[in-house]
Amino acid sequence: MKNSEEFELLASTLFGLEKILAKEVESIGGKNIETLNRAVKFTANTEIMYKANLMLRTALKVLKPLASFKSTNQYTLYGNVKKINWEKYLNIDTTFIIKPVVFSTHFRHSKFAAQKTKDAIADFFNDKYNKRPSVDLDYPDVPIHLHISEDQVTISLDSSGAPLNQRGYRLSGGDAPLNEVLAAGLIQLSNWEGKSNFIDPMCGSGTILIEAAMFALNIPANINRLEFAFMKWPDFDNNKWKEIINEAKASVINADELKIKIIGSDIELSQLELTQKNVSRAGVGKIIKLRNKSFDKFIVPGKKGHVVFNPPYGERIKLEKIEQFYEEIGNKLKNSWSGYQAWILSCNFDAIKKIGLKPEKKIKLLNGKLSCKFLNFKLFEGSRKDYLQQE
Ligand SMILES: C[S@@+](CC[C@H](N)C(=O)[O-])C[C@H]1O[C@@H](n2cnc3c(N)ncnc32)[C@H](O)[C@@H]1O
Repeated sequence: MKNSEEFELLASTLFGLEKILAKEVESIGGKNIETLNRAVKFTANTEIMYKANLMLRTALKVLKPLASFKSTNQYTLYGNVKKINWEKYLNIDTTFIIKPVVFSTHFRHSKFAAQKTKDAIADFFNDKYNKRPSVDLDYPDVPIHLHISEDQVTISLDSSGAPLNQRGYRLSGGDAPLNEVLAAGLIQLSNWEGKSNFIDPMCGSGTILIEAAMFALNIPANINRLEFAFMKWPDFDNNKWKEIINEAKASVINADELKIKIIGSDIELSQLELTQKNVSRAGVGKIIKLRNKSFDKFIVPGKKGHVVFNPPYGERIKLEKIEQFYEEIGNKLKNSWSGYQAWILSCNFDAIKKIGLKPEKKIKLLNGKLSCKFLNFKLFEGSRKDYLQQE
C-alpha cells in the first residue's frame, strides 16, 4: 500500500468527548471529519493513522474498516467475509482474533457471529494454501473487529491493539483512578491552554495532572507505549513511524521554558506515592509538584489558573457525610480560590447541589458506567452580579 493512499478510519472515544476528539483529528490532518456517537469518522493516509495512535489524547481505538455489507444470516456473513482479500492484512503465520460487538435480532449470539467470521478467514487461507493462520485469544498479532447493527455488518482492522488509554505510565491506579482518555478530555473541555497554573487538589493517582502536563508540554499521549497493532501489519512502514516519532519528540516543549505551576495534592500519602511513580514514568516530573495537604489546608498559588478535580462521590470511595464534604468544598472555593476557574467532575448529583455555587457550564459525561457532570464555576471576589458587570 502506498503511504499517500487515503482510506476511512474510525476513532472511538468516551461519551461526551466526541467534539474534542474531532478537533484533535483535525489537528493531525484527518479529513472529511464526521462526529458520531462515541466515535469520529475521518479519512486519512497511513501516516495520519500512525499519528492518530500516537497523538490523539481522547481516542480509545483507531479502527480501519475493510468491508461493510448487509447480512441477516450466517451464510451471507461467511460469504462476504471470505470475499475480503485477507492476504493484504494477514499471512498463515500471523495470529488473529475476532472481537465482536453485536446489536442484532438476526445474530443473537455474538460468539457465534465471531465464529463464522473466523471460519471465513481460516477458509480463505485453507482454500489457497491448505494452511490457515491461528487464533490467539491473549496476544493476537491482528485484532479484527466485527460490528453488527441489525443487518449492517462492518469488518475493521484494529490498528491500536490495547486501548489507547493504556499509555504505559500507570501500572496500578489509586482508589478510583480516572480513565486517562477521560482525564485528557476534561482538560480540553475546561479550555485550559497550558499557559496558566493548573491544580488537582484531590489528585489520587495523578491521572489529571499527568495528562495536563503532557498536554502543556506537547508530549504525544502515547509516546511511552511500545506496541500498536499496526506494527504487525505486512505493510508496516518502520521508517515512516520513526520519522513521526522523531518529529513529535522535536516539538516537545522544554519544561524549563514553561512558566506555570502544575500542582497535585491529596490527603492520603499513599496516593501521592503512587502519583510520584506515575509522574516519573510519564517523564513529566520536572513540571509537576506534589503536596500532602487536605483540601481545606491547601495554600492556593497566585490569583489565576484552573483547578480541576474529581472528589470522592461516596460510591467507590466510602465517605461519611458526603453532602457536608461537598458543602465544605464550595465554601473553600468561594473563600480561597478567587480568580480561578474551578471544574469538578462528580456523579453524586445530590452532593453537587451542596457546593452552593452557580455553575457556568454543566457537561454530561460517563465515568465507567456512572453518569457524571463536569461543572464549571468561575470564582471571583464579591457578588456574582458585580463580577458579571465588570466583565
Ligand atoms: C476519586 S479520587 C481521585 C482520582 C484521581 N483523579 C485519579 O485519577 O486517580 C479522590 C481523591 O480525593 C482524595 N481526598 C479525599 N478527601 C480529601 C480531602 N479532604 N483533601 C484532599 N484530598 C482528598 C482521596 O484520597 C482520593 O485520592
